[in-house]
Amino acid sequence: MHECQTKKVSGMTYLFTRGTPRRGFVLSIIALLFLLVLYQLGIICSTPKEPNAIMEAKEKYVVGSKDQKVYPYGRSMPLIFIGGVPRSGTTLMRAMMDAHPEVRCGQETRIIPRILQMHSHWLKSERESVRLEEAGVSKEVMNAAIAAFCLEVIARHGEPASRLCNKDPLTLKMGSYVLELFPNAKFIFMVRDGRATVHSIISRKVTITGFDLTSYRQCMIKWNQAISVMYKQCKELGPERCLMVPYEQLVLHPREWMRKILEYLDVPWNEAVLHHEEFINKPGGVPLSKVERSSDQVIKPINLEALTKWVGNIPEEVVRDMADIAPMLSILNYDPYANPPNYGAPDKVVSENTRKVLTNGQIWEDIARQLELEKTSTFSAMNRTNA
Ligand code: A3P
Repeated sequence: MHECQTKKVSGMTYLFTRGTPRRGFVLSIIALLFLLVLYQLGIICSTPKEPNAIMEAKEKYVVGSKDQKVYPYGRSMPLIFIGGVPRSGTTLMRAMMDAHPEVRCGQETRIIPRILQMHSHWLKSERESVRLEEAGVSKEVMNAAIAAFCLEVIARHGEPASRLCNKDPLTLKMGSYVLELFPNAKFIFMVRDGRATVHSIISRKVTITGFDLTSYRQCMIKWNQAISVMYKQCKELGPERCLMVPYEQLVLHPREWMRKILEYLDVPWNEAVLHHEEFINKPGGVPLSKVERSSDQVIKPINLEALTKWVGNIPEEVVRDMADIAPMLSILNYDPYANPPNYGAPDKVVSENTRKVLTNGQIWEDIARQLELEKTSTFSAMNRTNA
């Protein structure tokens, strides 16, 4: 047995062993090997050998304020993105997901689609692309930076959860790029009869860049353009990465559709997703923004109030030309000549919810007031959505 001794030399402490020189040599080799392993694992610092070596950020995490659990987040996590043309039931979808104890979506972040849009503008400009490349802002550097930005926002703008989700409807327009940033992400694409979406935009005066709120015809054309881009992205992503969810079918058959959605996402079944209204602004539940346009509708249980209210409100000449103005209707299986199409018969629970919602209108107004939610009709230009 050789004892370890410490010795102070000029105020510094050294560790040395007393023993045979051969044993010392073996120990030195082991120490060297150990240092080499640490170096390879990146635990001890190294100067990059290649000038273009990318420094990987360490894994980050959030600690839950209640459970003190550590929730790591990183680019390889299976993020959930909910998208669609605004006014297609995207808030309802995220509220149902938020009701699940393992999932957190939260309010629209608004900045995520903006930075993604900025990136696609830079790419489109050849001049800018050259300038960035010349400055060393390569594709890898850019992607790492944008991914880190998005991740920080997604992970930290709400409570931690084992499955994080984002609902900024327009992010889906850049779906393929999002998948480049987050290779294990999955998308839920909310699709709604364009006539209902446009009626919602016009009747509720939802300002969306490019949509002329005085013209049903122009808005249907814009809806057609926006949904075409998203549809193309969803097809490109493929069925493993993008699931199309028709709003009408979700509200008619919530149990069947939520089963399908959770299975697709590999999230275990939980009945809470069918009662999102019971978890509004509760810890671990459905946080609502006071200024989002759908907050005063999503406090209600899933119901049929909004299914066909567009019927009779679209000018006759627009109804007549519908198939030509909005060819995406037929592609998405909405009959452009039927006003309304037969969306199907609702589950019993949804009919009951609808009866309760329609007969107790005052209750929902009171709840909205208690939660200090702004009414959609009194919105200002501050809350513009950019499509
Ligand atoms: P209307 O404006 O036609 O009423 P988004 O959140 O994507 O902007 O979609 C808004 C639409 O989702 C609104 O359509 C709204 O009524 C509907 N919606 C919100 N909560 C709902 C609920 N609990 N049940 C059924 N539809 C709901």
